[in-house]
Amino acid sequence: MVTPAHQWPTGVALAPERRLALIEWAADRDAVIIEDDYDAEFRYGREPVGALQGLAPDRVVSLGTVSKSLAPVLRIGWVACPPALAGPLAEHKHRSDRGTPTLDQLALARLIESGRFDRHLRRMRATYRARRAALLTALAEHAPGLRVTGLAAGFHAVAHLPAGADEHRVVAAARARSVGLYGMSACRASRAATPARLVLGFGDVREQSVVEGVAAIGDLLTDRRRSTGP
Ligand SMILES: Cc1ncc(COP(=O)(O)O)c(C=O)c1O
Repeated sequence: MVTPAHQWPTGVALAPERRLALIEWAADRDAVIIEDDYDAEFRYGREPVGALQGLAPDRVVSLGTVSKSLAPVLRIGWVACPPALAGPLAEHKHRSDRGTPTLDQLALARLIESGRFDRHLRRMRATYRARRAALLTALAEHAPGLRVTGLAAGFHAVAHLPAGADEHRVVAAARARSVGLYGMSACRASRAATPARLVLGFGDVREQSVVEGVAAIGDLLTDRRRSTGP
């Protein structure tokens, strides 16, 4: 199971050679790859990232969701799968949750068919692009030199704290200034806090708040003396 277009939480895209290697790996084992294309609607680069499914439609089950584009509360998504799996998947879905509310699906279908869903995506893409730009501009101003990656799509970026920085201390110091940060250590199976990274979400934060938040803690992100232990 992979998120090849924009991995959570690192934000990296699966490189072309690794895509091919994964497909070969699956072919050798007669296995199926699940491609979780969860934030595909929100890509900012000029180069579109092709779906893994396009490379091996007989091997890849592709998942989409409206949780990012509309709201998680709708609980509606879709599956594009090899034809032989469609029947068993539908059967399994039905047995596991007795189906997805029909009225909600019809409303979504109406939204898509009327063109309003596309308009909504265009508007939201511009909104998120502006928040992303606000984050980058504020970081460049208040934490110059900080390396930020994972920005090709979605609603989060990864900040690479300077070598020797203590991730937990940075998070705690920011909290003391009323700014909530998420350390990458919480996403690691080992909970290791090195290399020190922050996962910066900007999907649900207004531009003004992004700017104010970064201004309040910029020094913590670049200054080793403040973010390392005694
Ligand atoms: C990696 C990933 N895939 C999928 C989803 C969406 O899941 P669902 O459609 O069940 O809400 C999320 C939501 O945060 C996610 O982070």
